[in-house]
Amino acid sequence: MVSNSALSQLSIYKKGKVRDVYDLGDNLLIVATDRISCFDFILPTLIPEKGKILTRISLFWFDLLKSVTANHFISADMDSLPAILQNPQDKDILKDRFMITKKCEVIPFECVVRGYISGSGWKEYENNGKVCGIDLPADLKESDKLSEPLFTPATKAESGHDENVSFEYMKQSIGEELANQLKDTSIAIYTKAAQYAEGKGIIIADTKFEFGFFDNKVILIDEVLTPDSSRFWPKDSFEPGKPQLSFDKQFVRDHLDSSGWDKNSAAPILPQDVVFKTQYKYKQVYKQITGIDF
Ligand SMILES: Nc1ncnc2c1ncn2[C@@H]1O[C@H](COP(=O)(O)OP(=O)(O)OP(=O)(O)O)[C@@H](O)[C@H]1O
Ligand SMILES: [Mg+2]
Repeated sequence: MVSNSALSQLSIYKKGKVRDVYDLGDNLLIVATDRISCFDFILPTLIPEKGKILTRISLFWFDLLKSVTANHFISADMDSLPAILQNPQDKDILKDRFMITKKCEVIPFECVVRGYISGSGWKEYENNGKVCGIDLPADLKESDKLSEPLFTPATKAESGHDENVSFEYMKQSIGEELANQLKDTSIAIYTKAAQYAEGKGIIIADTKFEFGFFDNKVILIDEVLTPDSSRFWPKDSFEPGKPQLSFDKQFVRDHLDSSGWDKNSAAPILPQDVVFKTQYKYKQVYKQITGIDF
């Protein structure tokens, strides 16, 4: 298990809630740890192998989606690690959980695409008939498929909670042309991936992408279509009108909701059965999408 990758020979570029990002000069080394975050808190409990599962899932999608968008991936091959990391301890930490990527200027928006109405979107719709300010038909049920995927951006807050913003706001902030490009690309990626996943028995209810500039071009960065960034539902038990069984962290969120934790103080330790079940769900997504046992 890796809670903290701590590669002391390299300088940290950014420490995220889940990934440790190191500076390799022109490139980045992104290490997916086994940390899990919920409600923007890093939980004190690790999910064994989670970082490896996430890395493999992102690699799969980067490859499948490369005809739709260029991305930041360079290599996940041990031999391409710098000489300074070619030692048994570091290789043991890094094995199957790293990617060498292009170093990009991150565009500070989370590009959220929703194909189904769920979670915070459903709560908002119940209140005012809209999702992120977009009017929707009056007769939707919880978890219903939307007539077309919605693009609902959020700001990437430096610290704390990301905040939903209107597409208008996004256009004003980064310019109409770039905002339209991100919207069109996000919807194209979602559409292709959702169609693929559905053929494998998984509904991608919603997801979020990040983009960055490399060589003045916009490319897909970060992680793609993982259970950390997406809601995945098994297709065979899909039934609108209620929340769905899910393959993602909803299970952990539900546990925390029922635990009595106030979401203000340090997060509680997860019981072993929640840890195992979460790990199982992450593996199951990988297996169902790629057809390969983790
Ligand atoms: N190619 C890239 N170039 C620069 N930054 C990147 C690239 N790919 C991913 N990142 C950034 O690396 C970090 C990955 O770490 P992680 O996903 O754990 O962060 P996080 O807790 O989600 O934080 P944040 O809210 O900043 O995304 C993110 O901040 C992401 O924006
Ligand atoms: Mg992230």
